[in-house]
Amino acid sequence: KGYFTFDPGFLATASCESKITYIDGEQGILLHRGYSIEDLAKHADYLEVCYILLFGERPNVEQYENFKTTVTRHTMVHEQLIHFFQGFRRDSHPMAIMVGVVGALSAFYHDSMDISNERHREIAAYRLISKMPTLAAMSYKYSAGQPFVYPRNDLSYAANFLNMMFSVPTEEYKVSPVVERAMDRIFTLHADHEQNASTSTVRLAGSSGANPFACIAAGIACLWGPAHGGANEACLTMLEEIGSVDRIPEFIERAKDKNDPFRLMGFGHRVYKNYDPRATVMRESCHEVLNELNIDDPLLDVAMELERIALSDPYFKEKKLFPNVDFYSGIVLKAIGIPVSMFTVIFALSRTVGWIAHWKEMMEEETQRIGRPRQLYTGEPHRPFK
Ligand code: CMC
Repeated sequence: KGYFTFDPGFLATASCESKITYIDGEQGILLHRGYSIEDLAKHADYLEVCYILLFGERPNVEQYENFKTTVTRHTMVHEQLIHFFQGFRRDSHPMAIMVGVVGALSAFYHDSMDISNERHREIAAYRLISKMPTLAAMSYKYSAGQPFVYPRNDLSYAANFLNMMFSVPTEEYKVSPVVERAMDRIFTLHADHEQNASTSTVRLAGSSGANPFACIAAGIACLWGPAHGGANEACLTMLEEIGSVDRIPEFIERAKDKNDPFRLMGFGHRVYKNYDPRATVMRESCHEVLNELNIDDPLLDVAMELERIALSDPYFKEKKLFPNVDFYSGIVLKAIGIPVSMFTVIFALSRTVGWIAHWKEMMEEETQRIGRPRQLYTGEPHRPFK
């Protein structure tokens, strides 16, 4: 009744102040702590980006090495967690497992319950960044019926994840440098994106004083949806459904038809009304990976042709619908052998640092208030209960 701003979908509501990430959707600019995503993707590795997001500045050599050592030293998960995995049906979606298992970490680290202690908050951040690749790879190994692979501290963050995914006891697995670089870049490009749905979920959960593992589990649950992180999986499923280049026009017409709920997955963005700068970097990486690995996959031909046709179509031009980062990351992930059901898990793994950086920033604010939106009530007026 005039007291609140009615803003469904939060199109015009700033929910907080933040110093972490800046986006100019009209210009297609994305900065983390002032550094452009293009520079970060080119010159920094994922762990340096994590440090920058968490602490606000680039690390010097010693700070970087210490950070890396700490992250590496926390990569093991408690052996008892294996029972959590074994409690899931074998055909469970790995995101279902991740929501459960990451939330379950709350039961293992009691010191993280006292979040008023800055040191405890920092340790929780390290634990999450370190353990996410291990848990993610375990969720895949479990679904594949293969033995879990322990983390290796001699490998880079990306190579260790790939090794835990693909190594089997019967054969030595060697990570190709091209694949390692592509994986690291996917992590970097998904590291943070200001107040998107999952980050806002983490902040809202955190505003009640919930522990960091529970907050990140809430973020993972939100990310799973196909309009958000689930888009990379949905995009590959769509490419499979299209199947061949000659069927693209049919799907383009369906995407334009207002009576058809179908949308081109991997296209459009709430904030970017210009090219998503992450997509530009990912597109480059995508072509590099496809060339270097010499991959011949008809699905990738469909993707490239779809991109070409959609970019020149007046509907997509007028509505400013460009391919987003997930259009290309799905193609790269497929090319490097990651199963489609793991795509959103990899997004969650990469975004954990962004979620935890926002949670940490919120916890460091002088005044904390529980997030509590209001509503416009449209139900029945008061009526007698007869
Ligand atoms: N295909 C066809 N039409 C589309 C699409 C699409 N992918 N995206 C938006 N539109 C149309 C939509 O129908 C609407 O048309 P009209 O004005 O005639 O009603 C107009 O464009 C604006 O769309 P909207 O749904 O109001 O825009 P939004 O900001 O609420 O939604 C979005 C953004 C990303 C949810 C949406 O573009 C979409 O559903 N894209 C496909 C899913 C996807 O790729 N999501 C990943 C986003 S990037 C990763 C992440 O941050 O999670």
